[in-house]
Amino acid sequence: MKGKILVAGGMGFIGSHTTVELQNAGFEVVIVDNLSNSNIEVLDGIERITGVRPAFVKADCTDMAAMRRLFDEYKGINGIIDFAASKAVGESMQKPIMYYRNNLNILLNLLELMPEYGVKGFVFSSSCTVYGEPDHNPITEDAPTKKATSPYGATKQVSEDIIADVIRSGSPIKAILLRYFNPIGAHPSAEIGELPNGVPANLVPYLTQTAIGVRKELSIFGNDYDTPDGTCIRDFINVVDLAKAHVVALERMLDNKSDEALEVFNIGTGDGVSVQQLLDAFERSTGVKVPHKYVARRPGDIVKIWADPKKANEVLGWKAEATLDDTMLSAWKWQQRLRERGIM
Ligand code: UFG
Repeated sequence: MKGKILVAGGMGFIGSHTTVELQNAGFEVVIVDNLSNSNIEVLDGIERITGVRPAFVKADCTDMAAMRRLFDEYKGINGIIDFAASKAVGESMQKPIMYYRNNLNILLNLLELMPEYGVKGFVFSSSCTVYGEPDHNPITEDAPTKKATSPYGATKQVSEDIIADVIRSGSPIKAILLRYFNPIGAHPSAEIGELPNGVPANLVPYLTQTAIGVRKELSIFGNDYDTPDGTCIRDFINVVDLAKAHVVALERMLDNKSDEALEVFNIGTGDGVSVQQLLDAFERSTGVKVPHKYVARRPGDIVKIWADPKKANEVLGWKAEATLDDTMLSAWKWQQRLRERGIM
């Protein structure tokens, strides 16, 4: 056993895939999740893949007393990964107080409890949203951050600042901020994947739900951008590759591989892929045609952003491996599994 890791929000899309990779790497995992955007069956999926059922505590990380009980019960936690956050850009515009309250209180609680319980390493789920519309692509970690365009994005920026301030104040912890680009796909076993509530706001779940007939037509938001095919460009990162980045980040802190108390890494492929190219890759790899139409631009969308992942490649020794076609196939297999289970 390499150590005991608390995965806050471990029942969600990225949290569940990371739990699998942590267990595969020999870590013991304790998940804490309030199940606000996930369900208990995720534990079965994790167990079927890894043969190990992680410990699970149903609690809200904003509840300090519940968190203290957790740390008292599961002694010797070495690291925390914080996935527990609300993450819908549009919803955050409607419910800013909820976003600031949830996302920031959870972070503050975890940072306060870490030294109290001797927890050493903290991995924070940040986002390329902190860069805003880049002046240059691919973008490196030292590019300036720009004013957030949504409360969701603002919570990511403020969270990064809070972590830096806490470390600067002398807290005996180490932290790694992972700036995710666009996580997509599912575990190749189709035992776990993304299950958004209601109508998906993100591209890939909308696409796969359209392909299976739950949605009539995929709307492509804008094909008149200043890009080769007119659609926006993103860096789509396979969720299993993304999950593995958390494992190496934790190992780096817990094994004292770095003297830095705070580090930040872009987690992306390094390839800019347009919305049209992603749709083409889905149709090519699955052989399934997706009804779609081109509609007006979505307000607030970034035109093009993709990562320079060189720092993560060289310093963490992590690299995205999945091909776009494999990732599309995994997303499709997961969507089909949801249908088989009668979920969607
Ligand atoms: N898109 C469509 N149709 C859809 C959904 C999306 O054309 O039905 C387009 C969007 O306009 C955008 C691209 O697909 O050009 C990607 O959109 P997503 O909503 O999937 O992802 P975003 O890049 O907007 O947002 C993601 C995460 C955020 C994060 C942000 C950082 O969802 O959490 O990246 O840029 F903050």
